[in-house]
Amino acid sequence: MQSLPLSLFLILESFHLAASAVDQFTFDGFAGGGNLKLDGTAVVTPDGLLMLTNGTTLLKGHAFYPSPLRFHEATKGGGSSPVRSLSTAFVFGIVSEYADLSSPGLAFVVAKSGDFSTALQSQYMGLANARNNGNASNHFLAVELDTIVNAEFGDMSDNHVGIDVDGLASVAADNAGYYDDRTGAFRNMSLLNRTAARVWVDFDARASLVNVTMAPLEVPKPKTPLLSAAVNLSAVIEDEAYVGFSSSTGVVASRHYVLAWSFKMDGPAPSLNVSKLPALPVTIAVRTPSNILKILLPIASATLVSAMAIAVFMIHRRRRKYAELKEDWEVAFGPHRFSYKDLFHATDGFSDERLLGLGGFGRVYKGVLPVSRVEIAVKKVSHESRQGIK
Ligand SMILES: *[C@@H]1O[C@H](CO)[C@@H](O)[C@H](O)[C@H]1NC(C)=O
Ligand SMILES: *[C@@H]1O[C@H](CO)[C@@H](O)[C@H](O)[C@H]1NC(C)=O
Ligand SMILES: *[C@@H]1O[C@H](CO)[C@@H](O)[C@H](O)[C@H]1NC(C)=O
Ligand SMILES: *[C@@H]1O[C@H](CO)[C@@H](O)[C@H](O)[C@H]1NC(C)=O
Ligand SMILES: *[C@@H]1O[C@H](CO)[C@@H](O)[C@H](O)[C@H]1NC(C)=O
Ligand SMILES: *[C@@H]1O[C@H](CO)[C@@H](O)[C@H](O)[C@H]1NC(C)=O
Ligand SMILES: *[C@@H]1O[C@H](CO)[C@@H](O)[C@H](O)[C@H]1NC(C)=O
Repeated sequence: MQSLPLSLFLILESFHLAASAVDQFTFDGFAGGGNLKLDGTAVVTPDGLLMLTNGTTLLKGHAFYPSPLRFHEATKGGGSSPVRSLSTAFVFGIVSEYADLSSPGLAFVVAKSGDFSTALQSQYMGLANARNNGNASNHFLAVELDTIVNAEFGDMSDNHVGIDVDGLASVAADNAGYYDDRTGAFRNMSLLNRTAARVWVDFDARASLVNVTMAPLEVPKPKTPLLSAAVNLSAVIEDEAYVGFSSSTGVVASRHYVLAWSFKMDGPAPSLNVSKLPALPVTIAVRTPSNILKILLPIASATLVSAMAIAVFMIHRRRRKYAELKEDWEVAFGPHRFSYKDLFHATDGFSDERLLGLGGFGRVYKGVLPVSRVEIAVKKVSHESRQGIK
């Protein structure tokens, strides 16, 4: 009777261990969201692309697998084993406003913490800031795909791949490209040519070696890695770590995408089915007006200019209609003065029906002052007339 709850407990406990120890996953596109932990500009688009940056300048975005992975296997004695090997494959694409100029880039990250809120955008790629760059307390390993030369980090070119530990100054870097399996020749690749490409990152725990390999989608994983560097991951990663991506924009509008991603501990990353991938959107509509605006904007501005011209004409005509002209004698006679506008209205616009008589210097009209309703006679003196008393 006592053994049943105990065995149930044991089953539950082993189930719990299995559930918490995620060792591998594959995203052939992110449709459905993939439950990733996103921050900043990072979103999963309706067609299943992980968009790390959205075209707005000087921002950052991160996407991490929702739960941290266990990098040190707990041993029977309660201690912790050496760090485990890891392998990942992903497909990325960078779409910039300009063909040959972009914002810094994106990076695959293994980090103790999934919180990069104090990291900066632009050249810091959402990984560090000026104060903590390179500090061993950062606890991250990153593989950067960088399209900007930053002298402060010793960048080699505006099209390089680097292995970074705790900071942006790479421990190893090379121009983007791959070694052809048949000829052994190096083939340049462009990070910025708006074409999706595949990257593999393999960490061999026994050799303490990080390998980075990349190739166009149609090329299988090349045998010779682009980069191979000794990294003591035990010193970087403690028991658990988050895996994911970090990216940022500088002053050039650009978007950084991850199209597919697979990961495995202690074995090669599951292969990605590239025929299933969502297409990389190759246009960026930032800072260029939309087609509707392109049509409406000229019409709207032409209408505005016409309306303003008509308004100016009307005001000018109105001013001329009621224009005041001061005679010398008026200045001498002081302030008692009716406005021309009032006299105009009092005499119905000097209409012939109000004409009382024709004098030597001008016409005399009968009128009624608008407010006081006082009857008046108005003599209209011709300005051309320079004779007699005005
Ligand atoms: C990009 O994301 C930021 C932060 O989420 C947002 O403020 C901005 O409007 C977005 N830009 C575009 C072009 O969607
Ligand atoms: C590294 O970071 C730690 C913790 O934030 C800090 O105490 C230390 O002073 C930093 N080291 C350097 C060289 O800045
Ligand atoms: C590859 O690119 C680098 C850097 O831009 C350049 O120096 C080199 O000549 C290129 N190699 C080939 C084979 O095009
Ligand atoms: C971009 O570069 C890759 C690798 O060099 C190449 O396979 C692809 O054809 C290029 N695409 C364009 C549109 O130039
Ligand atoms: C890393 O690259 C080196 C050198 O090419 C190779 O000997 C080693 O087997 C590679 N390791 C992994 C895990 O791919
Ligand atoms: C790697 O780092 C761990 C933890 O800091 C340290 O104990 C070990 O000696 C390091 N190994 C090498 C080869 O430097
Ligand atoms: C890859 O995806 C395509 C389209 O969904 C499918 O037909 C094919 O069987 C898949 N290949 C593998 C190896 O899973």
